[in-house]
Amino acid sequence: MISKSTIDQVYETARVEEVIGDFVALKKSGSNYKGLSPFSQERTPSFMVSPVKQIWKDFSSGKGGNVIAFLMEHEHFSYPEAIRYLAKKYNIEIEETQQSDAEKEQRSQQESMYLVAQYAATFYQEQLWDTQEGKSIGLSYFQERGFTEQTIKAFGLGYAPESKTALTEAAQSKGYSLEFLEATGLSLVNEAQGPPIDRFRARVMFPIRSMSGRIQGFGGRILSSKTKVAKYLNSPESPIYHKSKVLYGLFESKKAIAKEDCCYLVEGYTDVLQMHQSGIENVVASSGTALTAEQIRLIRRLTNQIVVLFDGDAAGLRASLRGIDLILEEGMHVKVCAFPEGEDPDSFCKNRSKEAIEEYLQEEAKDFIQFKASLLVADAADDPAQKAQTIREIVTSISKIPDGIQRELYVQRCASLLGVSEGVLFSALAQLLHQKDKPTSRRPQATPQMQVVSPPVAPTKINRAYELERQIIALLLQYGGAEVEFEEVFLQKNDQGALAETAQKISSKVYEKIFLDLQQDEIEFADPNFKSLYYSLIQTYQKEEKVLPERLMQSDDMQFNQVISDILMQDENYRLDRWDRKNIFVKPKEKELARMVSETILSLRRHLIDQKIHELQKQTQEEAAILDHSEQLEEIKSYLTLRTLVSKRLDRVL
Ligand code: CTP
Ligand code: MN
Repeated sequence: MISKSTIDQVYETARVEEVIGDFVALKKSGSNYKGLSPFSQERTPSFMVSPVKQIWKDFSSGKGGNVIAFLMEHEHFSYPEAIRYLAKKYNIEIEETQQSDAEKEQRSQQESMYLVAQYAATFYQEQLWDTQEGKSIGLSYFQERGFTEQTIKAFGLGYAPESKTALTEAAQSKGYSLEFLEATGLSLVNEAQGPPIDRFRARVMFPIRSMSGRIQGFGGRILSSKTKVAKYLNSPESPIYHKSKVLYGLFESKKAIAKEDCCYLVEGYTDVLQMHQSGIENVVASSGTALTAEQIRLIRRLTNQIVVLFDGDAAGLRASLRGIDLILEEGMHVKVCAFPEGEDPDSFCKNRSKEAIEEYLQEEAKDFIQFKASLLVADAADDPAQKAQTIREIVTSISKIPDGIQRELYVQRCASLLGVSEGVLFSALAQLLHQKDKPTSRRPQATPQMQVVSPPVAPTKINRAYELERQIIALLLQYGGAEVEFEEVFLQKNDQGALAETAQKISSKVYEKIFLDLQQDEIEFADPNFKSLYYSLIQTYQKEEKVLPERLMQSDDMQFNQVISDILMQDENYRLDRWDRKNIFVKPKEKELARMVSETILSLRRHLIDQKIHELQKQTQEEAAILDHSEQLEEIKSYLTLRTLVSKRLDRVL
C-alpha cells in the first residue's frame, strides 16, 4: 500500500497539463489548453485541459477527470500504477504503509525479480543485435520470417546464446543474485549436477510484458524444426509470472484495443507480431493455452468486443469453442473468425495489405453463437440424438450471457438456424438458468427488487430530473460552503385564521439549504452516481465546511471522479451562456446565487410533483372501470394545490 501522505504529495505536485503534455500536443487557449483527442481520431481539437481546476475533458468521447484518470484511461494503469508513475516523474519517494516485515520482504523480493527479468530482456536483446552468434542465428531467423527491425525492436525480441551459462554468469557479474535468477526460472540450479545453467539456450526470445510494460517472463523458440524438443519453452510460474494472467502483446496493443474498441485474440506470439506489422495493432495472444477468466478481464478493461481468430484446422476449432463460453460469461460480445485451411493469422497476414486483411476479418467474423450453431447443425445432420445434444450445447452458451434481452434475441435467431421452435429453446434455457440460480436462491428475490428500485436513468437531454439533479451537484460543488441569505416562505395562520404565506430572510449555507429542503420533501436522487456524490458532498461539508473538488477527486472510483470533472468543466459554459442571456451580470453575486439555488430546488420539486400527478392520473384512468378512485382524485387535487404553491414561489425567485 502506498501511504496517504505519498498520495497527497503526488496530487499536490503533479500538474495535469504537464503530465498530459507528455502524451498530447497541447496549445494554450484562454486559461485552458486544447489538443486533439487521444481517444478518437479527430481533426479539430476538442480535448481540453484546465490547469486551474487540474482536470481534463475530452468532448469527443465524453471522458474526463483528473490527472490520475487520464493515466488510467490513456495508459490503462491501475490506480496504484498511476500514482507510482507520477511519483517517478516528479521524483517523489514512495512511502509504503501498513506493511508487515513479511510483506515488505515479499514486495522487495518481487521487485528484485522484476529487475532480474528486465536485465535478462536487455541481455537477450544485446545478444541479438550486438553479437556475431545473435546476428547470424537469431536476427537472421526473425528476418527470414519476415519481421522488420522495427517490429523486432517494438516487441523487445532477443536471442539466448548456445552457451550453457551466458545469462547466469553475466547477470551475476552485474550483481544480480542467483536467488532471483532461479526464482524467475531464468537459471536452473541443481547442485548435484554442477554449477547453475541458463534455462533458455539457443533460442529466439519473446519477452512477455504486463499491461503496464514490466517484464514478467519469456517465451523462447527453438530454431531448428527437426528436433523433437517442444518448439516453445516458457518461463515457469513465479511470483511475477502467472501464465493464467498474462496475454502476449497486451502492453504493445492496449492503446489500439481501446481506440478501436475491439480486440483480436490469436494463439501465437508470431501471430501478434505479424498482425502488428501489417498495421493491425489491436491484437493479443493467449499463448496457446485455454483462455482464462483473468485474461478476459484484462481485455475487458479496454473493450467489450472480442474477435477470436482461429487457425485453419478443424480439430483446434472444436476444442476452442468451449473456452469461448467464458467470454460470454463476462458479458462481452464475441465474434469468431476462421482462417483458410492450413493458415494461421501469421501466415495469412504475411504478404497481404492491411486493407485486404481487414476486409477478410470484416467478411468472415461471425457472431459466436450463430457460428457455433451452424457448425454443430452441419455435424448433427439427421441424427436426432446428436441434434438434441447440439441444442443443449448452444443453449448452454446462450445461458452464459448475463443480459436477458440479448439472451432472448439469441434464442430467436438460433431457433430458425436449428429448425426448432423458440418455445423449445426457451424452456431449455429456463431449465439451465434455473439450475444456475439454485445455489444463490437463499437470498429471495434480491435481484429483481434491486432492479425495480434503480432503473437505468439515461442521461439524455430531455431527462429533466437528471439535469436538475446535476445542477444541484454543481451548485454544491462550487458554492456549497457559501453563506447566503435566502427568502424562506412559511405558511402561517393569519388574523382571520386562514393559511397564508409569509416570507422571511434567513441566512444559511448553501449546502444546508439544499439538504434541508430536499429532506423535507423526502426527495431522493434518481441517478445513482449523483446520489452517492450528493451524500458524500453533504457529509464532507458537515465535517469540513468547505470542499475542494480536487480533493474529492482523489477517490479511486473513476466514475465518481468523472462526474465531478464533467460538471466542473461544463459548468463554466453553462454559467456563461445562461447569465449572458439573461443579462444578469450586474446583479450582486450573492443574490444571484440564492436565486439559482432556490430555483433549482423548486424546479426539481415541481418536476417531481408533475410526475406524481401524471402517475396518479394514469392510474385512475386505468382503474376507472373497476374501482372507486375518489381517494386518488383527492390526492391529485392536493398535489395540484402544492404545484400551484411551488410555481408561485418559483415565479417569485425568477
Ligand atoms: N506454445 C507453447 N509451447 C509449445 C507450443 C506452443 O507455449 N510447445 C504456445 C506459444 O505461445 C505459441 C502458441 O502456443 O506462440 C501457438 O503455438 P503455434 O501456433 O504452434 O506457434 P506460433 O506462435 O505460430 O509459432 P511459429 O509460427 O513460430 O511456429
Ligand atoms: Mn505459426
